[in-house]
Amino acid sequence: MEDRGSRTEDLDAEDFITRRVAEIAEAVGDGCAINALSGGVDSAVVTLLGHKALGPRLKTYIIDNALMRKDEPQEVVQMFKDLGVPIILLDARREFLDALKGITDPEEKREAVTQTFYKKVFGHLVRESKARYLLQGTILTDVDETVAGIKRQHNVFAQLGIDPEVSFGYKILEPLVQIRKDGVRKVGKALGLPEAIFNRIPFPGPALAARIIGEVTAERLQVARLANAVVESELMGCGAFQYMAILHEDRVTGIREGKRDFGMQIEVRCWDSLDAREATPTRLSFDLLTKISFRLTQEVPGVVSVTYNISSKPPSTMEAI
Ligand code: XMP
Repeated sequence: MEDRGSRTEDLDAEDFITRRVAEIAEAVGDGCAINALSGGVDSAVVTLLGHKALGPRLKTYIIDNALMRKDEPQEVVQMFKDLGVPIILLDARREFLDALKGITDPEEKREAVTQTFYKKVFGHLVRESKARYLLQGTILTDVDETVAGIKRQHNVFAQLGIDPEVSFGYKILEPLVQIRKDGVRKVGKALGLPEAIFNRIPFPGPALAARIIGEVTAERLQVARLANAVVESELMGCGAFQYMAILHEDRVTGIREGKRDFGMQIEVRCWDSLDAREATPTRLSFDLLTKISFRLTQEVPGVVSVTYNISSKPPSTMEAI
């Protein structure tokens, strides 16, 4: 399958793997490439394709950007260690938190994450390693939404007329740019990734920053992190495409131990979708929603109100920013 947007049923995963591995090997030649692993399905698949093509000449980094889910960087390193793929964990929490300081506008937040990731952190790694290529897991949906002006996905450049070589000093290889999430899962399965990875729910590049309305601070990230951990633990295995907790900016009056508690609001979202282009809210049982609400207000300090999103995409989008 080579055409943009061809059907996933027609995708020959083995053939796709052979072609992409050959392309990566040819582009990189006898040099080395840097690879950005976030732990999501897309970058996990790219990591295995790159590993097949380049072996030890692929240097895979997972960047702790302070925006990841609970225990995620360590868990991802272990998962890939088990697959025989070495991963380097880099602590860049300070750089990202500094870049996000004081920013509340969604597109400015996305831009801050993009610049810190590609220019500052990866620019430095690429210069240091003398690699000329960065491998990344951009998929077709990322490109569509960016080109349509819906969201500036953190990982889309060429389609916006941005030349990464000029802007950041290296070329970007995007082996998955012709397929969507369902196609990526098919390729991941054919590559022998464990189901826990190829069927992992999607997680956006800007990570928890996409789930915080208003300023992204270390304190607010901790609230979003705990809330997302509760929602994931309750909804894991429910069969939905994606589920998440959004931290709102507005506070509301609540009551705790008989006293006024002007607290935070969490919005739970859970989506049924095939490929993220359109989505509808999952019809979760009221008992389950009540349990999630109870846990969020008990286990996440400062949360007094929980809502469930019942609008579809469009006009909603799946993440909040
Ligand atoms: P939206 O919020 O645009 O999300 O309806 C559609 C799907 O894309 C994911 N998403 C992103 N993925 N970089 C990514 O790699 C991004 O900037 C980004 N923004 C959203 C989102 O989690 C959902 O699966």
